[in-house]
Amino acid sequence: MTSPKALPTALTRMLGVSYPIIAGPMFLVSDENLVSSVVKAGALAAMPSLNWRTPEAFRAAVREVKSRLGGAPFGVNLIVNKASPRASVDLEICAEEKVPFVITSLGSPKEVIRRMHEVGSRVFCDVTTFEYAQKVQDLGADAVIAVSSGAGGHAGPISPLVLIPYLKRRLKIPVIAAGGIATGEQIAAALLLGADGVQLGTRFIATTEARVSQGYKDAIVAAKPEDIVMTLRISGTPAAVIRTPYIDQVGLELNPIEKFLLKNPWTRKYAKMARMLAGSKALEKAAEASGKTTWKEVWSAGQSSGLIEDVLPASEVVEKLMRECHEALSRAQTLLQDRP
Ligand SMILES: Cc1cc2nc3c(=O)[nH]c(=O)nc-3n(C[C@H](O)[C@H](O)[C@H](O)COP(=O)(O)O)c2cc1C
Repeated sequence: MTSPKALPTALTRMLGVSYPIIAGPMFLVSDENLVSSVVKAGALAAMPSLNWRTPEAFRAAVREVKSRLGGAPFGVNLIVNKASPRASVDLEICAEEKVPFVITSLGSPKEVIRRMHEVGSRVFCDVTTFEYAQKVQDLGADAVIAVSSGAGGHAGPISPLVLIPYLKRRLKIPVIAAGGIATGEQIAAALLLGADGVQLGTRFIATTEARVSQGYKDAIVAAKPEDIVMTLRISGTPAAVIRTPYIDQVGLELNPIEKFLLKNPWTRKYAKMARMLAGSKALEKAAEASGKTTWKEVWSAGQSSGLIEDVLPASEVVEKLMRECHEALSRAQTLLQDRP
């Protein structure tokens, strides 16, 4: 079968790719294989630098992706808040290796924008509100990633039906819609709402390449949208997970002492680091691709799990999404025709 037609938008033109889709960076999920497969299929993909335990291992992964892709664009996610001690070292690696685009989350992207622009790369910033989107636009961001309610990871509070057009009307830079998207019809809808591209996370966990346990992938295929709950117990910030007996047992809230330590200005930074460490330990079980599924696995995923029915190679996911997107856009034309 031939590949679906290219679909040019401000995002595809900025980076010279065929399809306006980013396989979003995912802690403990995205790696060299997932990123290279998606990019070779004509879309974009990014990986969090923290998926490698040391800066040296991260640099080796970047070089590996570069050599597999031969110049095609890919991205890295840098977590730039104060609780992230690796941010400046990993930024320097991204600049030295001329990573084509960086996605920033949770903190000020100022230094990332300055440094990556020096080497001619692009910077996209995760945002959940207009106020923050305007700040990053003023700092020189090349696009915003509009993270809406229903998203996997740290979801925003606003419905994508509102957030996408709300940001589009007010910003000059491209808007990339993230949250709840797992089908081509939804990509078409996001584009019609004004998005210049989309970022998908959860859909790309259910791929053969994702480096997580089969139990995790199967749990996404089985989950209904209402199975997704928000927990504070991973990072101290609400994060979406699949409800399981284990999640019910440990609860979704922090204990009162931890809450106090996270609010107190003297202890906040260290309490946050401790919570992130404990949370990532819980997630690591699910990321042991070869390990047996245990009842204590924590499966991080968004509401779009309800629309995911199969585990496929990442290149097939990209093709399916684009085929469905083109079909949906043609169906939209037929709505304009006279009907009896
Ligand atoms: C398991 C998981 C881990 C994630 N880790 C990160 C991360 O490390 N950095 C980041 O910027 N976004 C992260 N995200 C967010 C995704 O990149 C993407 O924006 C989000 O998943 C889109 O929503 P969707 O899952 O509904 O498609 C994560 C999402 C998931 C599901």
